Amino acid sequence: MPKAPAIGIDLGTTYSCVGVFLNGKVNIIANDHGNRTTPSCVAFEGEERFIGEEALEQIPINPENSVFDAKRLIGLRFDDSVVQSDMKHWPFRVVSEEGRPKVEVNFKGEQKTTFFPEEISSMVLQKMKETAEDYIGQTVEDAVITVPAYFMDSQRQATKDAGAMAGLNVIRIINEPTAAAFAYGFDRKTETERNVLVFDLGGGTFDITILTTRDKTFEVRSTVGNTHLGGEDFNNCLVEHFIKEFKKKSGKDVSGDKLALRRLRAACERAKRAVSFRNEASIQIEHFQSGIDFKTKLTRDLFEELCDSLFRLSLEYVSQSLRDANMEKSSIHEVILVGGSTRIPKIQKLLSDFFDGKKIKKTINPDEAVAYGAALQAAILNGDLKNDVVLHDVTPFSLGIEIMDAHVMSFVVKKNSRIPLKKTSEFVTLYDNQTSIRFPVYEGESAVTTDNNLLGEFTLTGVPPKPKGEAKFDVTFDIDENGILKVTAVSRDTGRSNNITITKSACANTQRFL
Ligand SMILES: Nc1ncnc2c1ncn2[C@@H]1O[C@H](COP(=O)(O)OP(=O)(O)OP(=O)(O)O)[C@@H](O)[C@H]1O
Ligand SMILES: [Mg+2]
Repeated sequence: MPKAPAIGIDLGTTYSCVGVFLNGKVNIIANDHGNRTTPSCVAFEGEERFIGEEALEQIPINPENSVFDAKRLIGLRFDDSVVQSDMKHWPFRVVSEEGRPKVEVNFKGEQKTTFFPEEISSMVLQKMKETAEDYIGQTVEDAVITVPAYFMDSQRQATKDAGAMAGLNVIRIINEPTAAAFAYGFDRKTETERNVLVFDLGGGTFDITILTTRDKTFEVRSTVGNTHLGGEDFNNCLVEHFIKEFKKKSGKDVSGDKLALRRLRAACERAKRAVSFRNEASIQIEHFQSGIDFKTKLTRDLFEELCDSLFRLSLEYVSQSLRDANMEKSSIHEVILVGGSTRIPKIQKLLSDFFDGKKIKKTINPDEAVAYGAALQAAILNGDLKNDVVLHDVTPFSLGIEIMDAHVMSFVVKKNSRIPLKKTSEFVTLYDNQTSIRFPVYEGESAVTTDNNLLGEFTLTGVPPKPKGEAKFDVTFDIDENGILKVTAVSRDTGRSNNITITKSACANTQRFL
């Protein structure tokens, strides 16, 4: 039997989607419930583990052991401010193990079974793999998995690890908006250059990518975003509002009642979706707390008012992406909407107004475009689809070496540089007769390293003693197609070298980039 085709997986915060290129086209694969997207949710009950729809159903009845939003934890440190603030909204417990977050559930009679976020994600990936295998009729190995463009190195690595744990050979990690643009542009190749802005607002993350497409090339010009801005945050605003309203009406505070909160959240999610199509939606929760029912409504106006600052924030990123790409808004030919939260009319209106009424494209399916693009890329990489399309992506952050003691960031790679890349810079000793030199590698935009992310460090020894500044080193940053970094330093005097591949880095801190 020939080797199974490679699949493309969009591992979303709230929903995941899988596609495969088969019989000359991309097929988005429905799961065993017939749904083309699967909830990124894993629940534990007694001896059983549920993934997808069954897990979602567990949330209201078994909230402490139903885990979702793992993507908001992946690759981050426990003390990260966004982890700390997200935790308040989750019914499941998050604990720290050596500074890394783990979810704690009751499984197989064990009160405290803990899982790393990448383990939870690997269970979701396994489900997507099985969905594809049922459809293809063969065991699948190779996969392209997508990540938000604005994911940091540690988050990319952890996603790759999740893939491996799910038994997948991850042939490439690609950026979600780039995948969507690829899906959009693949069949629409044009001779003339077109600038496309992809606005990707999903459940948990937000990315904007500007690409220039021409003929067979897709070139990313800039990428900006926020890995913690999406539908889940809009839900948080609604939940907070209705907790206050219920308190005012009944005198009861539900903020510590996990089950009530979970039910409120589910009701808010439904109402939020409804007001994308109607002017108001009712919220009715029987026996909400202490036997009291909660009856209220959400109007579109109220929703827009509560989320106003978040909506406007998303527009600021549009301006930033244009600045980074060195473009005027008039040079954008098309705006493509990706992600479920782009169904919100106010978001569409803000965008359309920003682009002076330019028509916003709704021709691609906002829920499936990312998996579609990933499946195309998988087929090309695996040779199932013969095509000479070239995709050039960029690195979302600047990278450099800390000049020791002074905490000064010496930039080697500027953000939005095209990848894969190799760039070498010269470094020198800081002291007389220095015989070893440390190279701390950082990611971020600040001139001060304490505001950036330490990715790792290594030392070069055996440096011949010389006056300061005279022993010289070539430091090379090498970023592969997955956006994963290797740094090598070579002594010009001895030819000795040392290097580091940033693998499981010491989880990052997002607040540094917010
Ligand atoms: N009609 C709608 N109106 C408002 N929001 C919606 C609507 N439909 C879906 N959403 C929101 O879209 C989000 C899910 O979108 P999507 O599936 O694109 O995200 P994801 O891929 O899981 O997340 P991410 O890409 O951020 O990791 C949810 O927060 C959901 O509430
Ligand atoms: Mg998504």
